Amino acid sequence: MNNAELTAVGSEYVMNTYARYPLALVRGKGSKIWDADGKEYLDFIGGIAVCVLGHSDQRLNKALQEQSEKLWHCSNLFWIEPQIELAKKLVQNSGLSKAFFCNSGAEANEAAIKMVRKYFYRRGDQKRHSIIVFKNSFHGRTMAALTATGQPKYHEGFAPLVPGFAYADFNDLNSVKALINDETAAVMVEPIQGEGGVTPADIEFLQGLRQICDQKGLVLIFDEVQCGIGRSGHFFTFQKYGVKPDIVTLAKGIAGGFPMGVMLAGELPVTGFEPGDHASTFGGNPLGTAVGNAVFDIVGQEDFLQQVRDKGKYLQNNLQALKDKRITELRGLGLMLGLEMNANHTGLLEICRRKGLLLIGAGPKVVRWVPALNISETEMKQAVEIFAEALDEWPED
Ligand SMILES: Cc1ncc(COP(=O)(O)O)c(C=O)c1O
Repeated sequence: MNNAELTAVGSEYVMNTYARYPLALVRGKGSKIWDADGKEYLDFIGGIAVCVLGHSDQRLNKALQEQSEKLWHCSNLFWIEPQIELAKKLVQNSGLSKAFFCNSGAEANEAAIKMVRKYFYRRGDQKRHSIIVFKNSFHGRTMAALTATGQPKYHEGFAPLVPGFAYADFNDLNSVKALINDETAAVMVEPIQGEGGVTPADIEFLQGLRQICDQKGLVLIFDEVQCGIGRSGHFFTFQKYGVKPDIVTLAKGIAGGFPMGVMLAGELPVTGFEPGDHASTFGGNPLGTAVGNAVFDIVGQEDFLQQVRDKGKYLQNNLQALKDKRITELRGLGLMLGLEMNANHTGLLEICRRKGLLLIGAGPKVVRWVPALNISETEMKQAVEIFAEALDEWPED
């Protein structure tokens, strides 16, 4: 079937939860991807910051294929070899204590929220259940993760939300201090707000949050679902900032496109969970964790991360050079960049698509650049050239 046919049949049978483009992507290799009509694109969306090694990476294919010949699935009632290996790597790299595997970013955040509540409950401090989160954040679509998300547009129509969340201003320590009371249990923050517009935290802000949490005995949770797994040029973005959280959540890039999430917790919060407290049928499944190991073994290498930092600078310099009057700001770290435009970008992204470049927004005005971490300089240069042409053609409102 071609794009038009797949769009028609898809619209009839698939639930209407996405404002989908009339395109079906059917094949990918590296940073190139093809639609059902055979048109080629440069992929700077990467499944929204998921495909960290691009499409159809031979090393990941091999890991998946080999594991598929051994064992697809068993239960977490048994030890799972590739899960143990990946847990060890993530724990040792992060300096946290233990890993809980699940299937998505929202679930990793749900796990973190539940763990914090149970941690204080087990200490006999049941009153402490409330979590300070941030305006403009995004933590997922399940009920607690949705409530934690500080964007009212996502809450509309889903009341009653989960009790126990308070919303502070991002990069504003005073707004956090003003919300702390004897019910406060934790602070949850994205070191780089992704969906909210690709806004990195100030270093003083994260350092200040660490200090406040230490002083008040609160749990500090970093949501690195989007900015983790090498995206910032460091395996964990907290390593760039030099501020260690008590809990970190990951998903998206962790298995390069195989669905998986994980929560890593330090030695105090980890005491919150005992057998029976939390679980996931598919969490840490052999197939996902086999691919996760292959991703870690590549992305976790210092020379790979150095290349991400270099590529990020290259892309940033090329975007900076555009100096178009319609670009108001360039933000981000590593290969997670956002260009704020002076108007809604919908038309601009459509022109890019027509010209063979896939880009996505982060909010109505920010164009997000989240390519594969192994993208080449040539591909980045081509993408910026296409974007520059698209800017010239983009009509003023
Ligand atoms: C920072 C952050 N947290 C959580 C999520 C939710 O992840 P998922 O869609 O895998 O549930 C996202 C997704 O965009 C995200 O960017």
